[in-house]
Amino acid sequence: MIILGIESSCDETAVAIYEGDPVNGQGRIVAEQIASQIETHARFGGVVPEVASREHLMALPPMVDALLAEASLNWSDIDHIAVTAGPGLLGALLVGTSYARAVGMVNDIPVMPIHHMEGHLLAPGLSGDLPAFPFITLLVSGGHTLLVQVRGIGKYEVIGQTLDDAAGECFDKSARLLGLRYPGGPEIAQMAVGGDAHRFKLPRPMLNRDNLNFSFSGLKTAVMYAVKNAGGLSAMNEKDQQDMAACIESATCEVLVKKSIRACLKMDAPRLVIAGGVAANTYLRTLLSELAEANGIEVHMPHPKHCTDNAAMIAYAAFQNIKSGVLGSKDWDATPRWSLSSLS
Ligand code: KG4
Ligand code: ZN
Repeated sequence: MIILGIESSCDETAVAIYEGDPVNGQGRIVAEQIASQIETHARFGGVVPEVASREHLMALPPMVDALLAEASLNWSDIDHIAVTAGPGLLGALLVGTSYARAVGMVNDIPVMPIHHMEGHLLAPGLSGDLPAFPFITLLVSGGHTLLVQVRGIGKYEVIGQTLDDAAGECFDKSARLLGLRYPGGPEIAQMAVGGDAHRFKLPRPMLNRDNLNFSFSGLKTAVMYAVKNAGGLSAMNEKDQQDMAACIESATCEVLVKKSIRACLKMDAPRLVIAGGVAANTYLRTLLSELAEANGIEVHMPHPKHCTDNAAMIAYAAFQNIKSGVLGSKDWDATPRWSLSSLS
């Protein structure tokens, strides 16, 4: 079975071809391409939705043509088209879903709407087998911070989430306070190398609350005051900035990791997955691996390049759904706000 995946929910136009055998469950990525719009949006300090839609519109058709050529495939070889239908920016989603529907209709190929976060959640399966069910997933992206109990394909229960900003958003906003570019996560991670993570006292929000929720807006405000107390950005030298970046990274990651471990212990789940853009963070991956091992929890994470937005995860999520007998409804539309739990 050959699946064309299309992702255009935010600021990456991504296409991929996944070939899998639904009987034995084995598969591989045949080809994949990503066109990032980061350079376009960086000068605005964040994603401009209208600009994102226009860029997707220009990038998507030639990218699919190039992908098919790279894989030496024709439209007649494609069995399914999988497209991100939400959540995300409405205009950006409409470009991907309209394109998918059009090429699906012309070439008589069924089109399957995929939940973007389900794509992230299943992404560890792209570089190995999916962990056995049930498992807990920490989904950390630019717009979401979720703890999800996964009982099977399509059986997702959100057991914890952020009450305000997402972890990625906290990285992005804190980076801005440090004069760094968008997206802030990779910038902070790079600046944090060699920094002193104990120098500035930053809060670990919600860590001592007996629930599985998060809150990151107070952490961002604490960063704002820490920068002010250091005399403002202009008074901070490179070492000050490195130390601040290290403190932001360790405060954010400590909360994410400890709450994820708590979720596993509370739900009696021996396996933990982390996914989404923030899961590309090396410090987070290392800290999580260490604490999980200490608690007897097995950790699964996608390759860093499949943590951030990509289309291989969308094609793979479709493969897993088809393999489990879910064919998707014909009655669907681009859905900017879409709860993961509703898939159950
Ligand atoms: O999943 P993703 O690519 O897009 C969304 O669905 O939102 O996640 C993007 C987020 C951004 O907030 C970005 O700053 C963050 O992931 N991110 C990182 C790293 N790479 C991307 N955060 C921390 N460390 C990284 N290495
Ligand atoms: Zn994403």
